[in-house]
Amino acid sequence: MTREKPKNLWQSRWGFILAATGSAVGLGNIWKFPYITGEYGGGAFVLMYLGCILAIGIPVMMAEIALGRRGRGSPLDAIARVVRENNGNPLWKAVGGMAMLCGFLILCFYVVVAGWAFAYTWKMVDGSLAATSVDALAGVFEAHNTSPWLLGSWSIVVALVTLWIVGKGVQAGVERSVRWMMPGLAVMLLILVGYALTSGGFSQGFEFLFTFDASKVTGEAFLAALGHAFFTLSLASGAILTYGSYLPDGQSIARTTFVVAIADTCVALLAGLAIFPVIFANGMSPGAGPGLIFMSLPLAFQQMPFGTVFGVLFFAMVSVAALTSAISMIEATVAYLNEKHGVSRVKASIASGVVLIAISMLAMLSFNVGAEWKLFGMNFFDILDYVTSRWMMPLGGILMVILVGYCLRSDIMRDELKLPTAGYALWLFMVRYVSPVLILVVFLNALGWLGF
Ligand code: PFF
Ligand code: NA
Repeated sequence: MTREKPKNLWQSRWGFILAATGSAVGLGNIWKFPYITGEYGGGAFVLMYLGCILAIGIPVMMAEIALGRRGRGSPLDAIARVVRENNGNPLWKAVGGMAMLCGFLILCFYVVVAGWAFAYTWKMVDGSLAATSVDALAGVFEAHNTSPWLLGSWSIVVALVTLWIVGKGVQAGVERSVRWMMPGLAVMLLILVGYALTSGGFSQGFEFLFTFDASKVTGEAFLAALGHAFFTLSLASGAILTYGSYLPDGQSIARTTFVVAIADTCVALLAGLAIFPVIFANGMSPGAGPGLIFMSLPLAFQQMPFGTVFGVLFFAMVSVAALTSAISMIEATVAYLNEKHGVSRVKASIASGVVLIAISMLAMLSFNVGAEWKLFGMNFFDILDYVTSRWMMPLGGILMVILVGYCLRSDIMRDELKLPTAGYALWLFMVRYVSPVLILVVFLNALGWLGF
C-alpha cells in the first residue's frame, strides 16, 4: 500500500518547532499553571505535574507526531489511515474525532481568557489599571466581566484574528505568524524575568513553587496535574497531531518533542517565578483563582520604574502566546474540512468560526448574566475546562497509547520514530506500561474507587 503524500509541509526547518512550541506555550503556562498551582498548594503540585510531563506527556507527544506524520492528515483521517495500513479496527478514528472536538471546545473558553489579555494590554496603556490596591484591581476585573458587550467583543476579536491567520493557510498563515511571534515572545519573557531577578522578593515565591509538602499530594491534585500536563503540551486535542502531519520525513520526532516540552516547562516555571513573588509581596492569596494574574500583576507594574512599559510587554506577551495556541486548536478542524470535504481553507475557517463564536459567547456569559446557569455546581465556562482537561484529554491520551503500544504493528512506529534500539525500547515501555497505568490509576482514584 502506498503512503499518503503530504498536502502541506512546513517550509523551513524550524517551522514545526516554532509552530508546536507556539501551540504548547500559551495561557496554560502563564495563566492556568500559576493559578492552579496556587489552588493546589504549590510545590507538591509542581512535582506531580513535572512527573506527568516526563512519564506521560513526552511519550504521548512522540506518538501523536508519529501518527500525524504517518497518516498525513487531520486527526480523524490520519488515524484512520495508519490503522488501515495495519488492518486494524476502523473505529479507532473516533479517537481522532474526539481529539479534534476537544481542541475546538478548549478554544471556546480559551478565546475568553485571551480576550482578557488583549483587553489588559490596552487597559495598561489607557490608565484604567491605575488603581492602588488589590481590591480595587479586583473591581476593575469584575467590572470588565460584568459587561457582556465588552467581554464578548474582546473574545470575538481574538476569534477573528485566529481565524484570519488559519484561513491563510499552513505556510502563509500559521508558519509565517509563528516565525516572528515566537522570537518576540522569547525576548519579552527574557526581559520580564531579568526584571524579576533584579527586583528582589524572590525567595517566598521560589519556596512556594519548589517546597514539597506531602500532605498536598491528593488524588484530586494528581488528576489536576495530569490534566494540566496534557493541556500545557496541547496533547489529545488534535493540534500536535495535525502539525505533525506537516512534518517532513527527515526530521527527528524525538528531538523536536524534547525541544517543545522543555521550552514549555521552562516558560511555565519562569512565569511562576515572575508571578508568585509579586503575589506574596502584596499580601495576596495565591489561591485567588482564574483572575490571579489580572488582579495582582498590574499592581506590581505600577510600583516598578517603567511599569507601564513592563505591563504592556507582559500582557502583549500573554496575548501573543494565546494566539499561537488558539491557531493550533482550530487547525485540526479547518484541515479536516479542507482535506476531507474539499472546502477551501477560507470557507472552512468561516464555518468553524461561526460555531466557535456562538459557543464562546455562552462561555463568556458565565462571567455575567449566565453566572448562575450551573450544572454539577459549575458554570458553562468551568464545564468546558473541566470536561476537556479532566476527561477528554486523559481519555484521548490513554486510547492513543493503547493504539500505538498494543494495536499497531511495531515496525510502523519504529519506522517513524527512528530511535536507537534502547531509546525505542524505553519509549515502548512508557507507552505500554507507564503512561496507561498511570492515567488509569489517576482516573479510578478520581472516581473514588481507589481512595488515596
Ligand atoms: N498548550 C496550550 C497552553 O498551554 O496554553 C493550550 C492548548 C493548545 C491546548 C492547543 C490544546 C491545544 F490543542
Ligand atoms: Na503550555
